[in-house]
Amino acid sequence: MSGLLPPLPPELAELVARARAVREHAYAPYSRFLVGAALRAGSGEVFVGCNVENASYGATICAERSAILAMVAAGQRSITGIAVFTDADTLAMPCGMCRQVISEFQRDARLVVVNPREQRVLGFDEIFPEPFVLER
Ligand code: THU
Repeated sequence: MSGLLPPLPPELAELVARARAVREHAYAPYSRFLVGAALRAGSGEVFVGCNVENASYGATICAERSAILAMVAAGQRSITGIAVFTDADTLAMPCGMCRQVISEFQRDARLVVVNPREQRVLGFDEIFPEPFVLER
């Protein structure tokens, strides 16, 4: 990655490095748009995910949700930070479905969206301020 990007706090820099590495495992033969995601759980552990496409396009799973499945399967249920790495010309933000799924587990999480030329750090609540919550 470019050394020109401003330095991040170490815990976010680690997420970016892990998201960048796991992106290499993305299975995206249809879109050729490879995405890597890494998140830090409340335990401090890092979980990673990549997008996994399917010949039945709608069965595709995004990188962010893939990382969340790994976190929940490991027994963790809170997200303190998440990084998303692509090689797109513009920064790729999490899609609407991923935002809703992230919102289920995050409280005041930091979000870093990165490509090799650009990075943006923001609070997750800034991009998804009013999630659907099931309250009867
Ligand atoms: N994708 C992600 O992995 N995360 C997102 O937030 C948006 C899109 C993937 C899904 C698909 O494999 C490819 O990017 C193109 O949409």
